[in-house]
Amino acid sequence: MLSNEADGSKKRKSLHGHWSSRMAFILAVTGSAVGLGNVWKFPYVAGENGGGAFVLVYLACVILVGMPVMMSEILIGRRGRRNPVATMKLLGEEEGSSKHWQIIGLAGVVAGIFILSYYSVIAGWTLAYVFKSATGAFAGSTAETVGAIFGSFVGNWQALAFCHTLFMALTIFVVARGVERGLEQAVRFMVPALLLMMVVLLGYSISSGSFSQGVDFMFSADFSKLTWDSVLAAMGQAFFTLSIGMGAIMAYGAYLPEETSITGASASVVVADTGIAMLAGLIIFPLVFANALDPAEGPGLVFQTLPLALGQMPAGAFFSTIFFVLLAFAAWTSAIGLMEPAVAWLVEHFNRTRAQAAVIVGLGIWALGFASVLSFNVLADFTFGKGTIFDNIDHLTSNIMLPLGGVLIAVFAGWVMCRNSTADELGGAGTSYKVWRFLTRFVAPIGILFVFLKAVGLLPDLS
Ligand code: PHE
Repeated sequence: MLSNEADGSKKRKSLHGHWSSRMAFILAVTGSAVGLGNVWKFPYVAGENGGGAFVLVYLACVILVGMPVMMSEILIGRRGRRNPVATMKLLGEEEGSSKHWQIIGLAGVVAGIFILSYYSVIAGWTLAYVFKSATGAFAGSTAETVGAIFGSFVGNWQALAFCHTLFMALTIFVVARGVERGLEQAVRFMVPALLLMMVVLLGYSISSGSFSQGVDFMFSADFSKLTWDSVLAAMGQAFFTLSIGMGAIMAYGAYLPEETSITGASASVVVADTGIAMLAGLIIFPLVFANALDPAEGPGLVFQTLPLALGQMPAGAFFSTIFFVLLAFAAWTSAIGLMEPAVAWLVEHFNRTRAQAAVIVGLGIWALGFASVLSFNVLADFTFGKGTIFDNIDHLTSNIMLPLGGVLIAVFAGWVMCRNSTADELGGAGTSYKVWRFLTRFVAPIGILFVFLKAVGLLPDLS
C-alpha cells in the first residue's frame, strides 16, 4: 500500500513505479503533449477560425492559463502519488477540504476515454497513410488526386475501423507494459525525430512560393472577425495540445522524482509543444495557398497538404513514409497519456493488474470509437449541435470538459491547497512561485470562466 504518514507526502511512493530520471519525465510529458493536436488539429482548427487572431489568442491561453494549470497538475500529482481520482480525494481531505474533489479525477477519466475514442480513429489515418506513402500512392500528386484519395479512404468505414483497431491494439500493448518499460521507451526518440523531419518540411514549404502568405494568415490578426466561439476553440486547443485539464499530466506527475523542478520541466514541455504546433502551421499554410486549397478544409487538411508537398519532393515516398510513421508515434505517446488516468484508477481502486486494466479500458474505448469511425461515412449526414458525432465529441471534450477541469484544478491548487504545500512542491516562495500563484488563483479560473460564459452567450455584450 501507499504510505500515508502524518509527516506528509514525502514518503509516498507510486504503485506504478517512477520515471528513471528528470529527462525521462520531460520526454514522457512532451510525448503526451506533442501529438495529433499539434500537427493535425492545430492547423485545421486555426484554418477554420480564420488564422491570425485565433493563433494569438491560443498563444495567450498557453502562457497565461496552460502553463500554470500544467504546473498545478504536476504538483498535485506528485504530492498525491496515486491515480488522479485517489490523489484528488486524498489531497482534498489532507488540505482540510473535502473528498469530493475526486470528481475532478473522475471527470478526467471520462474525458480521456472520450478523447481517445476519436483520437484513435485519426491516429488510424496516419497508419493508413504510412502504407499509402510507402506504396507510392502520392507520387506526382495534384490537389485533386490527394483530395480523392482522402475522400475515398474516409468514405470506407471498414478501412477506418481496421486502422482504429490496429492503433488501439498498439496503445493497449504499451500501456499494459507499464510506466518504465512501456512509456519511456516509446518517447525517447520520437520527439527529436519528429522535430527534425518537420524542419526538413519547413525548408520545402519556404521554397513553395507562398510562404509569406502562409505566415500572414497565421500571424496577422484581425480581431474584429473573432467570435467568442473562436476564442473558446483557441482555449480548448491550448488545453488539448498541452494534455491538461483531464488528469493525464497529474497521472504522470505521480511518477515524478522528488528533486525535479516542476517549473523547469513545465517550461520545457510548453516550449516544445508550442514550437511544434507553430512549425506545423508554418509548413501547412504556405502549402495550402501554393496549391489553392481551402484553409478551412477541416480534419482532412494535413492529410491532403502534406502528401501533396511530399509527393512532389525528390524521394517523396520515402519522406512521406517517415513523416507519417513519426506522426503515428507522436499519436501513440499521446494515446498512452489519455488512457493512463483510467488505467491507474482501475489498478488501484479495483485491484486489477495493469494488463487487465489496459485491456478493459482499451476495449471500451475501441467500441466507443465506432461513433467517430461512422461520422466520416455512413453517419456523415447525421449532424446536430456542432456537426457530426465526431465534431460533437471533440467540442464537448476539448472546449468544455478540459477547460472546466482546468478551472477546478486551478481553484484546487490556488485556493484549497495551503501555501506551504504548493511552495514546497514548487521549490520555495520565490518570484516564479508568486507569478504561478497569481495566475492560478485569478487569471486562469476567471479567464476560463469568462470565455466560457461569453461563448455560450450568458454574459451580455457591453459595447
Ligand atoms: N496533447 C495531445 C495532442 O496534442 C492530446 C492529449 C490530450 C493527450 C489530453 C493526453 C491528454 O495530441
